[in-house]
Amino acid sequence: MTPESATRARGVLNRRALLTGLAAGLTLPAFRADAMRLAAQAGRGAAGRPAETIARDEGYWSEIGRAFDTDATLVNLNNGGCSPTPSHVLEAMIRDLRFSNEIPVHHMWNILEPRIESVRRELAREFGCDPEEMAITRNASEAMETLILGIDLKAGDEVVLSNQNYPRMITTWEQRARRDGIVLKQVSFRVPPRSPADVLDAFARATTPRTRVIEVTHITNLTGQILPVRDIVRMARPRGIEVFVDGAHAFAQFPFRRDDLECDYYGTSLHKWLLAPIGSGFLYVRKESQKRIWPLMAAPAAMDENVRKYEEIGTHPAANHNAIASALAFHREIGSARKAARLRALRDRWAKRLLAADPRVRVLTPLNDTEACGIGLLHVDGIPTDRLQVHLWEKHRIMTTPILHAEFDGLRITPNVYTTPAEVDLFSEKIEEALRKGI
Ligand SMILES: Cc1ncc(COP(=O)(O)O)c(C=O)c1O
Repeated sequence: MTPESATRARGVLNRRALLTGLAAGLTLPAFRADAMRLAAQAGRGAAGRPAETIARDEGYWSEIGRAFDTDATLVNLNNGGCSPTPSHVLEAMIRDLRFSNEIPVHHMWNILEPRIESVRRELAREFGCDPEEMAITRNASEAMETLILGIDLKAGDEVVLSNQNYPRMITTWEQRARRDGIVLKQVSFRVPPRSPADVLDAFARATTPRTRVIEVTHITNLTGQILPVRDIVRMARPRGIEVFVDGAHAFAQFPFRRDDLECDYYGTSLHKWLLAPIGSGFLYVRKESQKRIWPLMAAPAAMDENVRKYEEIGTHPAANHNAIASALAFHREIGSARKAARLRALRDRWAKRLLAADPRVRVLTPLNDTEACGIGLLHVDGIPTDRLQVHLWEKHRIMTTPILHAEFDGLRITPNVYTTPAEVDLFSEKIEEALRKGI
């Protein structure tokens, strides 16, 4: 066989494999290896201009948007649940999975797994802690459950949380209460709160001399309210109370660092706002506190003060956590301040338009730069939230999240860096139409 005919034969085989795959319902991955180049190119054009100006520069954001292989027939306004990654991040993960699969015991364990140390170093640099305080987890749930289940507590010890904490964390605390007899105190606060001081006050009033832990979300998944974490830490520390911070939605959505919060414990997911692969997160535990928090899966005593004890989870793909590095590089190309400014501009675009359109519209998220960012909660009087969510998806292919809390409800809207103003406007139009005609 000549090289040409071999190439042709391979082509036929590949086409055949492809058609078989398509017949089986697979779709083609359309990788875009130049995602980083596009982001860097956009960055050069934006250099030196204020974040607020770039937030409205559609040329810049369309370059960023080209780094994603999204489907233009769908409007995804639930990026908060879990976000698509830019194509090069997905590609890095798939490349490593393929490489692992050649001989996992060598390629995965000996070559790829040790690269977790570079991921640790870069995440620590971004968050502002020492790498020895940074553990890589599979999500925020793993990070927060490590804290909740890992601290020694005895019957009668009290824990303060709010009824706006993430349900899985509340469930974890409730299981501890059933198992260990600890006492939970759940505070409630208005949406939006009257002021950050009101939230601080609600937590402070619930503490007693028996309080051992406060668990607080940095930004709630319900309304996108940013809570006064540093004030809560400052209130709690002199009382000997540990503060566990659930930052699932905060890291890489808006700029902040560990020292802005002064916290000792922080857990986050990275498949939300960092745009890292599905199944990635981190747990930060201050060095002095590591001996107080047991790992979820057992580790030897020699690791008691080693943050890697929280990564003793058995065999897992190295590909997912290594691709965090590619997502972080992309995030840094955009920059936290620009990203936050863009997300707020998109939020204001739908929220202000709908508020002006009809008195039945309420936005339960403060539209300012300090108490919220890209997440917004829209409540429409007279149209049930769950039905509105189904209507938008089934009739218009617009994905939103229904939030049904005991004290409030609404559609949670979370755009992303690839979301276009036209998509946000389509959402607003469809809400206005629903207000006019019903659903
Ligand atoms: C506040 C909060 N904490 C924790 C989680 C859990 O995140 P994951 O499912 O990635 O573990 C979420 C998910 O939406 C969340 O919003």
